[in-house]
Amino acid sequence: MKALVVIYCPRQERSRTKQLADYSARLLKSKGVVVDLLDLVKDVPDLLMPERLAAYYNRNYVGQKLDAREQEYLKKMDRMTAQLKGADIVVLAYPMYNFSQPAVVKAWFDSVMQKGETWDISQGGYAGLMKARKALIVSSSGGAYEGDLSALDHSSSLSKQLFEFMGYRTAVVSAAGINRYPEKEAEILSAARVQIETALAAFTG
Ligand SMILES: Cc1cc2nc3c(=O)[nH]c(=O)nc-3n(C[C@H](O)[C@H](O)[C@H](O)COP(=O)(O)O)c2cc1C
Repeated sequence: MKALVVIYCPRQERSRTKQLADYSARLLKSKGVVVDLLDLVKDVPDLLMPERLAAYYNRNYVGQKLDAREQEYLKKMDRMTAQLKGADIVVLAYPMYNFSQPAVVKAWFDSVMQKGETWDISQGGYAGLMKARKALIVSSSGGAYEGDLSALDHSSSLSKQLFEFMGYRTAVVSAAGINRYPEKEAEILSAARVQIETALAAFTG
């Protein structure tokens, strides 16, 4: 079994989310899973700017053969897509920024959500091509979005929707409220670790 751990934790060694991502990677390795790491701080995804978007559309929607320059535009997107497709399990870890995923995380989704690779359109509508794969979303946030506030959380809910669109079975672990309740930080992170254990046991068992 292979796993890919994708992290975007710009506070690096000070990041609470990174602690949880590292914990997930250690757990997976202890279960004999081969773990690959993609650090989006060091390997920043490309954006869908005009030339790249045109190359993607022409190749993946219209079936055009691209010339060398057009292929070059898609090189990083294709590398990230192949890396994702090579993994049975993906762990995606990032902090909530402005009620959502950080832009770099969205750019990664925009890179790997390629028509004909991870999802497609069939006669019955959209079809996820990543069936039988599993995605664990590990997110942390300063606030806690429970009850009436849950509509404000577009972070893990969006990641969950995007993974499920590609066919993944998902689990979400949110370490929420670590700035609002600083005295509870250790407790919140410890509860998140237990949830990670449960999710990864279900994914690997
Ligand atoms: C630019 C920025 C935007 C943030 N936006 C939010 C937000 O909208 N909601 C929230 O609850 N926390 C927000 N936070 C707080 C972080 O999500 C929180 O501190 C998180 O635990 C940081 O994770 P880290 O320790 O892995 O860096 C924001 C932090 C930063 C730096």
